Amino acid sequence: MSTFHDKVIYQAYPKSFNDTSGNGVGDLKGVTEKLPYLSDLGVDMLWLNPFYPSPQNDNGYDVANYTDIDPMFGTWEDFDRLVEEAQNHKIDLMLDMVLNHTSTDHEWFQKALAGDEYYQDFYILREAQEDGNLPTNWESKFGGKAWSKFGDTDKYYLHLYDVTQADLNWRNPKVREELYKVVNFWLEKGVKGFRFDVINVIGKDEEMKDADDGVGKSHYTDTPIVHDYIQELNKETFGKYEDIITVGEMSSTTVENGVKYSNPDRDELSMIFSFHHLKVDYKDGEKWSLMPFDFIKLKSILNEWQEGMAEGDGWNALFWYNHDQPRANSRFGDVENYPFETSTMLAQTNHLLRGTPYVYQGEEIGMTNPNFDDLDDYVDIETHNAYKEMKEKGIEHEEAMEIIKEKSRDNSRTPMQWNEAEHAGFTTGEPWLKVADNFKEINTETGQTSQRIYNYYKKLIQLRKDMPIIQEGDYKALELNHSSIFAYRRDYKGQTLLVLNHFYEEESSITIPDELLGLDAKYLIGNREERTLEKEFKMGAYETVAFLLN
Ligand code: GLC
Repeated sequence: MSTFHDKVIYQAYPKSFNDTSGNGVGDLKGVTEKLPYLSDLGVDMLWLNPFYPSPQNDNGYDVANYTDIDPMFGTWEDFDRLVEEAQNHKIDLMLDMVLNHTSTDHEWFQKALAGDEYYQDFYILREAQEDGNLPTNWESKFGGKAWSKFGDTDKYYLHLYDVTQADLNWRNPKVREELYKVVNFWLEKGVKGFRFDVINVIGKDEEMKDADDGVGKSHYTDTPIVHDYIQELNKETFGKYEDIITVGEMSSTTVENGVKYSNPDRDELSMIFSFHHLKVDYKDGEKWSLMPFDFIKLKSILNEWQEGMAEGDGWNALFWYNHDQPRANSRFGDVENYPFETSTMLAQTNHLLRGTPYVYQGEEIGMTNPNFDDLDDYVDIETHNAYKEMKEKGIEHEEAMEIIKEKSRDNSRTPMQWNEAEHAGFTTGEPWLKVADNFKEINTETGQTSQRIYNYYKKLIQLRKDMPIIQEGDYKALELNHSSIFAYRRDYKGQTLLVLNHFYEEESSITIPDELLGLDAKYLIGNREERTLEKEFKMGAYETVAFLLN
């Protein structure tokens, strides 16, 4: 059996997790302080978003120095203590490696700007086209064009994200060598996992041309050379160790590539994050729009990834939430009337699938979108760029704010709600991002529903450890076209795990196939009263239930 299929990974967003210094920003000491909480929850690995020195234009994904700690987050002593204490709690650390781009404040970029040709070749610099247009017509993922003027030269540098995030030139072997040094540096510090940021866009076309669609993704996403680079990265760094867990964040990838990235025989990564299931409420593919989520599409995407990755022996990271996504309970359920049912139903849907579940800070207590009314309460660069673009398109302020309330990445970045104290016990200072005002009801210490949700997560995490069928079982959907229930089975060594998840309020029912009804069905876990399996199985609002059949 593979070594990591029984594990669950927790993601803490250090900036918003726990502030012990009172500067309004979470810190490493704060993470250490909460290890007992994480250990009680039962997670095995802790992924921390970037805490390296950074101008923080993109909350640390604009790295100015890969091998240091931003004083805002603490010291080396704090880091060493965190590793040590985490080990005492049997929790390993996973760090975020942002190897596609550096901050323009990074020494390499600064040297390049100062005219050092060696470092100029670390980035992707091009001249304008003959007609004076930018080198290509590609768009930045954060809005606007993907090229900006390189100092006072007549060249432009590529930035697929913010203008202060300059894309690195992976075609230059020296760049790759430097980046492998970075990964090895952290391995030597005792880090056991890596989350590679937007790693499938590192291999840009050698000859850079205008894109027919005016956006350009196909010129740099999942290009064949990315697989070569990841294999080399594996071989030169974490592949030398036995027990390292890696996950690649894959922008707009395909199942076919997902298999390649994560099939163990290919020596690339342990698993990948794909995002298609989190775009089912994008109107015509546009994130900054409002639309009820398309349930059939959601199921068909999850099903496609479950089946496809299993067929090719790939491995999915399972998640609804992260620091870039609005809170899924606010998005796919009813957090006003059914907060417990919504959160636990989503959790169970995810945790019992084939793959590795990720828990993002606060989901285990049912934290929601904060619904800030004021644009100034949002800090995220993508949100502010989107607001400008919406205004330019003629969208009125009120409508733009409604969209931002649902879609902003800050929805998940508000401080962790620990207790009822001021700022939810996150900080004694002024938090860098406001706390959601429901923290008196939703918090780890006194939130009654929060505690029920937390205990449910605990059970799900323990079940995965106890049951090989959850770790290794085959997956198959039932009645994929059912309009409100996502039903699937997992099969392993003659046993079947039947998982039924109801995504809506109105009562609904599903017909259980006779072949399953003939078996001995044991109720395993559910978010309402204990149930018996029957042919016409009725489900209440946001109900989830799982049976083990022998
Ligand atoms: C990833 C990160 C996101 C960041 C982007 C650019 O998508 O998760 O937060 O803005 O990469 O580094």
